[in-house]
Amino acid sequence: MWAKSGKASPVASISASVYTSHIPAIGAALDLGKTAEPYWQPVFSGYQRSKEWMAKHVPDAIVLVYNDHATAFSLDLVPTFAIGTGERFMPADEGWGARPVPEVLGHPELAAHIAHSVIQDDFDLTIVNRMDVDHGLTVPLSLMFGQPSAWPCRVIPFAVNVVLYPVPSGRRCWNLGRAIRKAIALYDEPLKVQVWGTGGMSHQLQGPRAGLINREFDQSFLDRLIADPEGLAQMPHVDYVREAGSEGIELVMWLIARGAMSDRAPTVVHRFYHVPASNTAVGHLILENNE
Ligand code: DHB
Ligand code: FE
Repeated sequence: MWAKSGKASPVASISASVYTSHIPAIGAALDLGKTAEPYWQPVFSGYQRSKEWMAKHVPDAIVLVYNDHATAFSLDLVPTFAIGTGERFMPADEGWGARPVPEVLGHPELAAHIAHSVIQDDFDLTIVNRMDVDHGLTVPLSLMFGQPSAWPCRVIPFAVNVVLYPVPSGRRCWNLGRAIRKAIALYDEPLKVQVWGTGGMSHQLQGPRAGLINREFDQSFLDRLIADPEGLAQMPHVDYVREAGSEGIELVMWLIARGAMSDRAPTVVHRFYHVPASNTAVGHLILENNE
């Protein structure tokens, strides 16, 4: 795409956004060859169309918004927002060995540009040149690309703290998405970029409400993410926790990806919802950008 004003010069653009749960057991099911088992078959069949679409729409780079689960960041140091500016990121050992998936190649130039632009727009990003990436990032890649010997594009890990309180509000995530959109539109190379939001949907992994799933909340979240994202971004964090469980707060990350989309209504390429997978509801959307 070409810049609208000034000298005609090629710039980067956001072609689509992808939203998906990142359940670690999905990664294990894939890695252990269990995708055809009756429990998992309905989950993976929901991503069949996604893989077909993705095969035709591989971007140059993905800004992959996810949360680290005390893997790269321990309680010693918890950044609210962190951008991976390194050349490569290895799949993490989360206690049962690293997943047998390819290393993740970053895009240091685009990542550094986004960091510069977004920080100058008043968002505090932590710059991460070296870290391992956990299921929050690798499971979405597996769901969308299957099991290739190398990931087909560059991936910029963008980690959000939704593990240790205080967590960022949906409104701040939405505004951060807007700032990422602006940064990408100022990058002077005609890259096709996707922004992914991962985590969710409703789930709670601990305490008396462990196992909580709220289908009504999840479906309404998907409806509003498509049609009223700015209104949805006003929802306070306590509503996520009450309605979608303590880990349902991961859904604020979807607002970063949605905030990066244009103001025009997106094209809904695919929508999928399934319960259960492990302890959570699986939610998934692909939205194409209409500039
Ligand atoms: C589960 C889901 C998650 O999102 C996660 O990060 C860890 C575990 C689960 O369903 O078990
Ligand atoms: Fe998670």
